[in-house]
Amino acid sequence: MKNICCVILAAGEGTRMKSRVPKVLHPICGRPMIAYTIDLVKKLGIKNTIVVLGHKEREIRKYLPPNIKIAVQKKLLGTADALKSALSLLKGFKGTLLVLYADNPLLTPETVKGLLKHHRENNFSATLLTANLENPSGYGRILRDKYNCVRKIVEEGEANDFEKEIKEINTGIMCFAKDKLISAIAKIRAHNKKKEYYLTDAVEILYKKGEIIGTLKTKQTDEVWGVNSQEDLAKANNVMRQRILKIHLERGVGIKDPATTFIDWDVKIGQDSVIYPFTVIESGVKIGRRCLVGPFCHLREGTILKDDVVAGNFLEIVRSHILDKTLLKHFGYIGDSRIGKKVNIGAGTVTANFDGGRKNRTIIKDRAFIGSDTVFIAPVKIGKGAITGAGCVITKNSNIGDKVTVAGVPAKILR
Ligand code: UD1
Ligand code: CA
Repeated sequence: MKNICCVILAAGEGTRMKSRVPKVLHPICGRPMIAYTIDLVKKLGIKNTIVVLGHKEREIRKYLPPNIKIAVQKKLLGTADALKSALSLLKGFKGTLLVLYADNPLLTPETVKGLLKHHRENNFSATLLTANLENPSGYGRILRDKYNCVRKIVEEGEANDFEKEIKEINTGIMCFAKDKLISAIAKIRAHNKKKEYYLTDAVEILYKKGEIIGTLKTKQTDEVWGVNSQEDLAKANNVMRQRILKIHLERGVGIKDPATTFIDWDVKIGQDSVIYPFTVIESGVKIGRRCLVGPFCHLREGTILKDDVVAGNFLEIVRSHILDKTLLKHFGYIGDSRIGKKVNIGAGTVTANFDGGRKNRTIIKDRAFIGSDTVFIAPVKIGKGAITGAGCVITKNSNIGDKVTVAGVPAKILR
């Protein structure tokens, strides 16, 4: 998109989260909240983007892509002040300024595209995305004059009882004609209970100058939720989770019980795989076609299941590659492993990957048969077609040859 600059406000302290983790780094389906906003701007094709950081800025910086400009708000004096901090990076820019808050992770590009179109086609000075909420508490309310034109946004803390009854809220997503905003922002004062410079006060200032403020009221109310508390975060996670599940279902993945299935944002699952209830699949996991996963399965980072793998009940897998047609039907723990094709892993198998100092690898080659309750004290290697007896312990640095059978504690070669 041409002649558009986006400023993302992310400097706030997020006190209502009651957490030491900066608000915008709290994860939603395995991804920091701010990454959703950055991604949205990218999807809109907006090249010129500035993120305003303040509270714990050094921590947040690490999560931002290198092409994004960063402005630092020195004192957290409110949203107008935050935007002001970005202005020096906008010298010479003429056009539309899109303002986003980094605590709106559910917003979609379609909605913002609609807002920008409405703003530009009508040549408004400012255009607000609004929504009617059943429970508007906590949000700024939209006040309109007798001609139904927007005249002011009143913040919850400043609103009187009548204003609090208003259901139409400011989502925080706004666009401005840049030069109009510059003159308005200079006039904003911190004359309110919080003693903050509210960006929302720019609306009344523009109105009084006779400028027209457009609005676009979205029906997608769950998109515009601001995340301010742990409760909001839990709700946002749930909405995002439903969106992710829908995408997988539409691509031909079977999900037996969406209510108890947790799949992070970037998980890949092939067609005709089936996910059984009470399963958690974390960020980065890749699952091939026709796999069966769960019930009660936990697939963690770095896990790749190739095609036709069965990963059954009460099983945890982390940082491991499991090749085609391998069966891990029952409870167990597989960490830092590479398991070949057509391997059978018996119930209760455990890779003891951690020796107190470092994580060690377990390599199991094609068609090996691992008896129930085998413990691998990693690092170990198990050859092609090798067999381990039930209950055996494979000691550290073992290298069991192809087709060899071992059993016992510690495991010894049988034949
Ligand atoms: C804000 C709006 C409110 C709107 C709501 C929508 C203002 C004054 N109020 O309220 O009208 O209904 O969002 O969700 O804008 N920030 C800074 N620097 C600061 C303060 C905040 O960068 O000094 C950033 C925060 O990191 C956050 C965003 O601005 O991403 C919004 O701040 P927040 O305190 O969450 O505002 P709300 O009270 O939710
Ligand atoms: Ca907020």
